[in-house]
Formats: sequence, C-alpha cells, structure tokens
Amino acid sequence: MTSQNKTEKKRYFEPAPQDIDVENFRKVIESRRSVRKFSTKPIPNDVLDACLDLALLAPNSSNLQPWSFYVVQSPAKKKQLVKACLNQLAAKTAQELIVCVARTDRLDEMAKMNISEFPFPEAPAAVQKYYRIIPYNYKTGYFNSLGNFKKVAFKLARSLDKQLPVTAFNPADAKLWATKTTALACENLVLALRAYGFDSCMMEGFDEPLVRKILNLNDQQYPVMVIGAGERAEDGVFFPQYRFDRELFIQKV
Ligand SMILES: Cc1cc2nc3c(=O)[nH]c(=O)nc-3n(C[C@H](O)[C@H](O)[C@H](O)COP(=O)(O)O)c2cc1C
Repeated sequence: MTSQNKTEKKRYFEPAPQDIDVENFRKVIESRRSVRKFSTKPIPNDVLDACLDLALLAPNSSNLQPWSFYVVQSPAKKKQLVKACLNQLAAKTAQELIVCVARTDRLDEMAKMNISEFPFPEAPAAVQKYYRIIPYNYKTGYFNSLGNFKKVAFKLARSLDKQLPVTAFNPADAKLWATKTTALACENLVLALRAYGFDSCMMEGFDEPLVRKILNLNDQQYPVMVIGAGERAEDGVFFPQYRFDRELFIQKV
C-alpha cells in the first residue's frame, strides 16, 4: 500500500437513481390541487403513515428537524380544530386534519441527536464541532440577549468583509427559520398524499390562539398550517388551476 493510499479518506458514495419516471412525477405535482371538499373514504393508516414518513424526509436546516406534525384524530379535538379552522369546508369534510408546527424549543436536543445518531460508527470531529455550535445560531437567549449580541457581532464582522450565514437575531427570525423548513415538509406531505391517490388542502385560515390551546403548544411552537386530507370529492375542486406569466417570477441573472 502506498503512503498516499494509506492517508486517502474512505468516502461515502450514494449513487443517484436514474430510473425515475418523470411523467409520473409531473403528474403528482400537476394533479395536486387545493381540495375544499373531501369524500367520506378514510385514508388507510398505513398510507397516512407512509405520507408522514415522506414528509419527514424533506430537506431541513442543518438537519435539526424543527417540526412536529399533530394528526388530530380524537373526535372532541377534531371538532374544536374544525372550529379553529373557521369551519372551512376543507376542514369540515377532511378525513384527517394535520397541524404542522414549527418549533425552536428542541434545538439542543436535535443537535445532540445529530451527533449520537450520525450514521457512521462515530460522528466525525467536524460534525461534532458543528452541532455543538449550531444551536447558538438559532437561539436568541433570555430577553434576546444572545440575539442582540449576535446583531452587534455580525455587523462588526460584515464591516470587515466577513461573510456570515442566516442567523436568528430575535425570536421572529428563529420562527421564520423553523417555519421555512416546516413548510418544505408540508409540501412533501401533500405530494405524497397525491401520489397515494389522496388529496389535501393547506390551510392558514385558522385561529392561532385556539389551535395553540387545543394542542397545548408552548410559545416556541408555532402552528404553520393545518392540512386537511382525504379523497377528493367529485366536486372538491372549485376551479381550474392558474398561475401568472412565468416571466413575472423567473429571472435568469
Ligand atoms: C400557506 C397556505 C395557506 C393556505 N390557506 C388556505 C386556507 O386557509 N383555505 C383554503 O381554502 N385554501 C388555502 N390555501 C390554498 C391556496 O388558496 C391555494 O394553494 C392556491 O389558491 C392555489 O391553488 P392550488 O393549490 O389548487 O394550486 C393555502 C395555501 C397555502 C400554501
């Protein structure tokens, strides 16, 4: 063995599958609609679980997985939740109601798990170091003490031409950070439902204090949306899908 071979790091290699059916992928995306009326057909438990598992595979900031998904199935809670969703038809007729919650209260726990559950026998030193530091990037401290400190420190560093990542300078930034990632899981969930032949309606038309009360959420847990799910009723989509001219949104610069 040459000395070069001896020092060569063993790299992880995960090939990208090439046999993906793009037409079916397009069909899933293009047939997803916001469904406002569902049939009475229940979603089988295994299908719902498979969809939730696919939601959890969404990309998420630093793999900190700052989300929770409450599948509200108790009839009493469901009744309250429909009321919290302003009695929207999409909520009233949904077979399942899932409250998607962004959270900033488990940063330390999730960071530690990224070390203990790293999929090598031991997390590399750089990974361990990263996860010891990263919670501070999104924490803001008591009375925003850490947030304020970071504000000053980042300003100073940037004046010295240092490039720095997105961080949380206050609880609203932290909420945005967790919300961004949670919304990606929500999209995975609705696409997964579609792929299994079911449909959904994302809803932010809900009374937040009431949702908080129903689920007993703490003040670092933020309901992002309620997803109503079920089988599309024949008259469940109210009009054809339309988007504005792509030129309005896509700029190649
Ligand atoms: C974050 C978010 C919140 C939404 N809230 C509601 C809602 O409360 N009620 C509703 O009927 N639709 C809601 N929608 C659905 C949108 O109205 C819908 O996505 C949009 O009109 C485009 O239609 P499409 O989803 O069928 O393509 C929401 C969608 C998103 C992404």
